[in-house]
This record gives sequence, C-alpha cells and structure tokens, in this order.
Amino acid sequence: MSKQTVRDVNVAGKRVLVRVDFNVPLEHGVVVDDTRIQAALPTIRYLLDNGAAVILMSHLGRPKGKSSFDLRMDPVAARLSKLLGRQVQKLDDCIGPQVQAVCRSLERGDVVLLENTRFHDEEKANDPDFAAQLAALGDLYVNDAFGTAHRAHASTEGIARAVRERGGAAVAGFLMEQELSFLGQAVDDPERPFVAIMGGAKISDKIGVIEQLLERCDRLLIGGGMANTFFKAMGFEMGDSLVEEDAVATAAALLEQGKSRLVLPVDAVIADAFENDAHMRVVAPDQVPAGWRVLDIGPNTLKTFESALGGARTVVWNGPLGVFEMPAFAKGTLAVAKLLAGLDATTIVGGGDSVAAVRQSGLMDQFTHVSTGGGASLELLEGKTLPGVAALSDW
Ligand code: 3PG
Repeated sequence: MSKQTVRDVNVAGKRVLVRVDFNVPLEHGVVVDDTRIQAALPTIRYLLDNGAAVILMSHLGRPKGKSSFDLRMDPVAARLSKLLGRQVQKLDDCIGPQVQAVCRSLERGDVVLLENTRFHDEEKANDPDFAAQLAALGDLYVNDAFGTAHRAHASTEGIARAVRERGGAAVAGFLMEQELSFLGQAVDDPERPFVAIMGGAKISDKIGVIEQLLERCDRLLIGGGMANTFFKAMGFEMGDSLVEEDAVATAAALLEQGKSRLVLPVDAVIADAFENDAHMRVVAPDQVPAGWRVLDIGPNTLKTFESALGGARTVVWNGPLGVFEMPAFAKGTLAVAKLLAGLDATTIVGGGDSVAAVRQSGLMDQFTHVSTGGGASLELLEGKTLPGVAALSDW
C-alpha cells in the first residue's frame, strides 16, 4: 500500500486520534451487531500495547447535525469496554474545552471515545475549523474507518490534512490496510478466473460498479431485485416485481456491454404478495404473471451460478439475491453463501445484507475477507479514490 500505517510511526507516549467506524446497529440502547467494533480491536490493542493513549471517534447513524439521545455513543463505549477488558471513558462531546482537558490529561493505556461526530453539522461539511479542533486533541491520526472512507468528512478527510499540515502523521490502521489490500487486489490484479456476484434491489445504486466489473471480471452473476430491470430491458413482463423503469435503458446498455459475461437468473421464485407466507411458485423469468412478483432466485439459477463459479480463483459478492429479510425468500442468498464457502478461491463479500447472510449461514470464517464497508467497498470496486484514504500520509 502506498500509504503509511500504524507500523510506520512511533506511538509510545503519544495521544493517538483514531477514526473508527462504530456506526453499528442498536436496539433499545444495546449494540446488536458488534462486528465493526471487533474489527477495530487489532489497531486499538496494538496502540495500547505500544504505549499510546487512544482517543476514538466515530459517527453513529444520521443525526443531521443535532444531538440525539438515541444516537449517543454510550452503548458502543460499553460494548468496547467489555471487548477490550478495560474501561473506555465516553465523553459528552467531540470538541470543546472539557474534551480538550480530558484528552490533555490522558496517560499511556487510557482509552476515551468521543461523542458522535455527526452531532455537529461541521462534520459532514468537512469544516476546516472543526477538523482542526479534532486534530488538536491528539499527536497523530490513524484512520481505521474503512466503512466511512468514501465520505470526505471532517473526522475522515479534513483531520488528516490538518494533522499533516502541522507536520504530523496521518496513517492507516490495520483494518483499513486489510480492506484496501483485499478489495484493491480484486480490482487491480485478481487471480483469474475472476467472478463477481451483484445483488440487491436496485441497479441504479450499482451502475458504476457493474460497468467497472464488466471490464475486469470474467463473469458477472446478477440476482436480487436488480435482475428484474435487466429482464424488463429484454422485453419481459415482470408482473408486480420491483422494476426501475428509469434504469431500463441503462440495463439494456449493460446487457450489450456484458454480452455472455453477464449471467442472469434462469428461473425465479415468485409470490402473490410481498409477505413471508404468500403463495409461491418457481417460473422462468419471462413467465411472471400479473399480480405476482419475483422475490428470490430459483433452483436452476443456483445450478447455473454453481457452474459459472466453477474454477473461479477470485470471487467478489455484494448484495442479496432475494428478499433476504423474509425467511421464505432467503434461500437463494443463503445457498450462494454456501457455494462460495466451498470454493477453493479468494472470496470477498461486502455490503450489509450479504454480510448478514454470510453471518446467518454460520460460514463467516470460510470467507477470505468479509468487508466492514458497504458504500465504501462499492466505491473501491468502482475504481474510485476514497477521500479518507487519499488524505493519509504517503510513503
Ligand atoms: C456505513 O454504514 O456505510 C458507514 O458507516 C457510512 O455511513 P453513512 O452512509 O451514513 O455515511
């Protein structure tokens, strides 16, 4: 990687500002999925073991620049304390005199978590003054928030510039390094055959990625709601299925671009209502009756996908293949997770729902890399520069 990492700086006796992505799901004030917190532990532990005091910062949710009780970082601090086995002090703000006083007094081995950075409008605006105030809290900056690296915000981009302008170092953490290494390799120099699987409801969210992947991969398998828009572009009637009418022309262009590299479902599970206990049938994609909708890939599609994955050496998967939230229509997604887990290949999965499917299938540790980034992993696969990475110190 062309960027410096925590290994390249001396952290002993330093107050190290660490941007993490602790944007985790909460229910009734409790963290219900701590994957992202666990993923940041290697960097935090390394810093503590090497004599640093650690000042953590993250956003949580989308509070629109105002303080919101439900989006305070307290439950995250509680979970992190437990995982680290040491006290994590949660501060009531991320800037201001009290925060400065606490940060100044930190000693080796101390860990504090600042309040949600998005309680200030200046965070998303990447306000230079706000970024400078964050930067002033510590001696050097580590960005381990891969999931937020596609946002040019004050705590991801502005702060790195502020620290570097004063002669300090802004470096990547271990999670950031690992994510960039696996996803970057898949984009730049994948071992072939390279197969990508794209799912999810909407094609419009992923046009750029599909275009890029079609240039680079050997086969691109499409499932989920977005397949319907491709079928519509092929002239099929899709009943009540989700179809993005505005994207039909784009789908037609992608079909033309992809030709035989694009692998579409050959059958579909359809239902007469958008409900888990609706009546279900399996039909060919051009046989969806009025009043019915496609909610999952069918069994023959799985066979087609299995043969398209045969011999693959690199597989990237983003997005569920059906309406995964409903157990009746999660089968295709779970079966694909199982297929990938059985491959002798580098397997990379990103995006909230597909990662949730891998977790639910119990096969998480059989994947080479499970990305903590949704939007960030897509932008990287699309070949875009992530502002949170670009701002870090070069070698
Ligand atoms: C994510 O969950 O994708 C990241 O934390 C970024 O969150 P955002 O989409 O609200 O910027």
